[in-house]
Amino acid sequence: MNKILITGATGQIGSELTPLLRQRHGADNVIGVDQRPPRDPAIAAGGPFHELDIRDATALERIVRENKIDTVFHLAALLSATAEADPQMAWDINMNGLLTILEIARKYCCAVFFPSSIGAFGPQTPPENTPQDTIQRPDTMYGITKVVGELLCDYYHKHYGVDTRGLRFPGLISYKTPPGGGTTDYAVEMFHAAARGHGYSCFLKPDTRLDMMYMPDALAAILQLMAADLNHLSHHNAFNITAMSFTPEQLAAAIKKHIPDFSVHYRIDPIRQAIADSWPRHMNDSAAREEWGWHSEFDLAAMVSDMLEHISYPKRRQA
Ligand code: NAD
Ligand code: SER
Repeated sequence: MNKILITGATGQIGSELTPLLRQRHGADNVIGVDQRPPRDPAIAAGGPFHELDIRDATALERIVRENKIDTVFHLAALLSATAEADPQMAWDINMNGLLTILEIARKYCCAVFFPSSIGAFGPQTPPENTPQDTIQRPDTMYGITKVVGELLCDYYHKHYGVDTRGLRFPGLISYKTPPGGGTTDYAVEMFHAAARGHGYSCFLKPDTRLDMMYMPDALAAILQLMAADLNHLSHHNAFNITAMSFTPEQLAAAIKKHIPDFSVHYRIDPIRQAIADSWPRHMNDSAAREEWGWHSEFDLAAMVSDMLEHISYPKRRQA
């Protein structure tokens, strides 16, 4: 990995992965692209950045060719709730974006990282200890694009030898960017409300349990998988990974240990509740552990302490 392209570079993962890769590989060797300019000026100023639509194959191919890109982290996509609001657009961006990247990777011999999701599972999937290889019949457009994305990555690996690798991420929690249209974003929103000294109106039921992960673990997983010896990977794509599994009421209780007067009430959004209800409660990530040594560092208590240490608003009330 010498010359890197990151699509979706200004999103939740991209805003943290881009500076991390620039630190490791040199600022000029990591090119970010996104349809919107970075909120964090460090991303635009910290190295090459191009504003473009991921479906613009000509512009992407020119960037890859001219910069001799050898690795693509393909993060540009619509997340679950945004995708459900405009399913046709979600199909177009998530599928045609990925196909464009895979075709370019085939032509220019690039490795590709593609993040899948707990959303790639559906109501018929075993919700507890969800196996690596199991039933995947999601009933959301987001999930459909993730399953097809996983299969496309397998196809390009098998038929064209493209080094495609990927993870099924759970809900990711971080403090650097605002939530970006996901169903698990309630968790990030809850932190921002608590840190502001406000109560939080939660759109999922108090007992909706989902897999989650703190961003430092997610970044470590991406780098570890991309560095793994391909010969040791029998599932090179779509590895289940998780770090913790909790409900909104458990997260609220963990935050209340730091901010005792924090309060949450529940105003359920039926669309996002239905999405969450179709996802696993807790994935089995033993394939990732066995094949490339995955393990997480942050549990619920450690993640909550670190989040609250980093999110600061003037009105923050401390215990
Ligand atoms: P995000 O919404 O924060 O970022 C996605 C980025 O893609 C945004 O900056 C957006 O501007 C960009 N984008 C969207 N449409 C585009 C287009 N047409 N052209 C160019 N750029 C476009 O999402 P994220 O959390 O950073 O997620 C990145 C990837 O990881 C996605 O594939 C997502 O499905 C996957 N993932 C995320 C999570 C999570 O909890 N954040 C969990 C599982 C999987
Ligand atoms: N966190 C993502 C979402 O809620 C899951 O892929 O959309």
